[in-house]
Amino acid sequence: MIYFLMTVCFFSTAVSAMAFVSFGTSSFPRPQCTVADSSLYQLMPFPMGASVGISRMKNNARYTEVVRKEFNSITAENAMKFRALHPAENTYQWADADFLVDFAQKNGKRLHGHTLNWYQYLPAWVNNFSGDSIAWENMLKDHIQTVVTHFKGKVTSWDVVNEYFNDDGTIRPSVWVKNLGPDYIARCFQYAHEADPAALLFYNDYGHEYSSAKRTAIGKLINSFKERKIPIHGIGMQFHMTYTLTDANISAAIDFAAATGLKVHISELDVRVNNNKVQGLTFTDAMAAQQADRYRQVVKTYNAIPKSQQFGITTWNVGDADSWVPSWQGAPDYPLPFDANYLRKPAYKAIIEGGK
Ligand code: G3I
Repeated sequence: MIYFLMTVCFFSTAVSAMAFVSFGTSSFPRPQCTVADSSLYQLMPFPMGASVGISRMKNNARYTEVVRKEFNSITAENAMKFRALHPAENTYQWADADFLVDFAQKNGKRLHGHTLNWYQYLPAWVNNFSGDSIAWENMLKDHIQTVVTHFKGKVTSWDVVNEYFNDDGTIRPSVWVKNLGPDYIARCFQYAHEADPAALLFYNDYGHEYSSAKRTAIGKLINSFKERKIPIHGIGMQFHMTYTLTDANISAAIDFAAATGLKVHISELDVRVNNNKVQGLTFTDAMAAQQADRYRQVVKTYNAIPKSQQFGITTWNVGDADSWVPSWQGAPDYPLPFDANYLRKPAYKAIIEGGK
């Protein structure tokens, strides 16, 4: 039945007046799929997620409906970061993150927490904190345990520490390393585990697909955690990639992560196409096809790792207009499986193909 619906969805030329989402590039046959026709997560062999912005969830009904319909795992793009949750030393603000908890619970979605510890997106009071190492330790522990306790039983899993390493495999300088020493990372995992022993704990980073030095450093960290019985359950690979990334690079990252034996989360997937940062770039059919091919290859490679390790794949937001990439690179881009109107791009179909 599912196959039949997909066939209708992809190849029928019938256009439903009730159509809500459809494929969005001109070279593709453009049959429209009603919401009832298919849903990404229902067709995939592992969880499919998206990160989401809270203001869009509150103010854009179409965005919210696509999230509800297409994904079964959700990550807050920003709402669970330190600056968002803990803006002043004695103030926690939960409203936005709790809004997402409520959405996830009402709609049966898994909620992945991002992120307990990062060198970025800290409030000014942390950057200016002047305590000694004991005060820093207490502040780190208080933040992690207050947050994990607040979401206990509601958030399945956490990116405990994000981006601890530089691309060359050295430890990235940060206020945390400076004030607490490099092994503070292990204590982050221990504090999180104490607060919610059931939560799955991930180390999250980018660059596995292009830096063997970074992969090696992450592998050593995981081995050291295993030897020391530091609780860690998963490895998050962001996969902010370009549409020219090779099959070999994709395999190197995914095979490395699988070899750790931990759960593997492709945690922030997007595939950008504007390598030369061209202003006013138009998204051509050729770009759409090449981007779709890269999405297919990522999913296909991921689908080959042991099922028990497949935590899922999460895209970093939903539609092209929601992506962080254009403002980061200072030029337009079209990196997600939905276009700016939440029409399904060829990448959407390619994801499903990769999961077969
Ligand atoms: O909320 C303020 C708003 O009040 C203000 O008016 C506006 C003016 O610029 O800024 C808003 O904050 C922005 C925030 O996103 C929410 O939109 C910040 O400036 C901006 O720096 C922040 O960027 C986020 C970035 O992380 C830093 O937290 C991106 O949306 C988000 O996509 C990005 O996500 C990271 C992952 O957490 C880790 N991996 C890399 C990934 C991409 O950088």
